[in-house]
Amino acid sequence: MNVVVITGASGGIGAEFARQLDNGLRSIDEFWLIGRNEIKLNKLAKALKHDVRIFLLDVTDELGLDEFEGFLTKYDAKVRMLINCAGYGIVGNFARADREGTLGMIRTNCEALTSVTHRLIPYMRRNSRIIQLASSAAFLPQQDFAVYAASKAYVHSFTRALNRELKERRIYVTSVCPGPVDTDFFALAELRGKSVFEFKKYTMASPEAVVQKALRDSVCKREVSVYGVLINMFNIVSKLFPHKCILDLLALYKRIHG
Ligand SMILES: NC(=O)c1ccc[n+]([C@@H]2O[C@H](COP(=O)([O-])OP(=O)(O)OC[C@H]3O[C@@H](n4cnc5c(N)ncnc54)[C@H](OP(=O)(O)O)[C@@H]3O)[C@@H](O)[C@H]2O)c1
Repeated sequence: MNVVVITGASGGIGAEFARQLDNGLRSIDEFWLIGRNEIKLNKLAKALKHDVRIFLLDVTDELGLDEFEGFLTKYDAKVRMLINCAGYGIVGNFARADREGTLGMIRTNCEALTSVTHRLIPYMRRNSRIIQLASSAAFLPQQDFAVYAASKAYVHSFTRALNRELKERRIYVTSVCPGPVDTDFFALAELRGKSVFEFKKYTMASPEAVVQKALRDSVCKREVSVYGVLINMFNIVSKLFPHKCILDLLALYKRIHG
């Protein structure tokens, strides 16, 4: 059975991947959607033309992932595409942050993504694809978004290296690095602070556009997918200039504008 697996499929970017892939991919038998919100996952499943299997699963739960892996074996699943979207960020000063929420970012964004990827590679064959949701936050350390940015730097680095490792097996891995995307992400991210998103109104993208670009880049076997002129410029600037200078400038801007 050929399957597409999407983590974090209950909303935002993950759900949008499911919707866009639903219109193509005739060779796929089932979409396997992972998330914790049953109502949202059921609503999405009803809207899709493909057969859908829902896994109510916290991706940080290794026992739950063991069970999920059992289903892959049971149905002799061939994972043609894995899309790792489950993740979150919380803005705020590190020293004053809630520890559970902070460590949870590392567990979800890094550990769980790594575990899911490691578990699913044996079920993949030639020409399969892996798409990992990193972020433009991966390009530069971010004051007041320190752990989230570091977690996405991990995803970005890991993904690029993995793409090289899997090339000989003809499995292609893409790191998707969007700037701000219009999803529920900010409801949690900005609960206690807003400082790092001052520029977000200029760079906010729709999930539709980000996913369309990511899928095109994945088909073209591109290692990195960056949507939007300003975010591409940010990527280039973060490569050309010493990070210390950019961080000092941003800190100065913050001091002046409060
Ligand atoms: N929105 C942005 O501005 C932006 C920018 C760059 C990168 N990203 C990245 O893109 C990915 C998707 O974000 P989004 O914008 O679509 O945000 P979102 O609308 O908040 O969706 C996040 C998804 O992750 C799932 N999730 C979170 N923790 C989970 C866990 N422990 N187990 C299972 N599922 C979990 C949520 O599902 P349940 O609630 O059902 O558990 C939800 O479906 C994230 O990795 C995010 O870091 C977002």
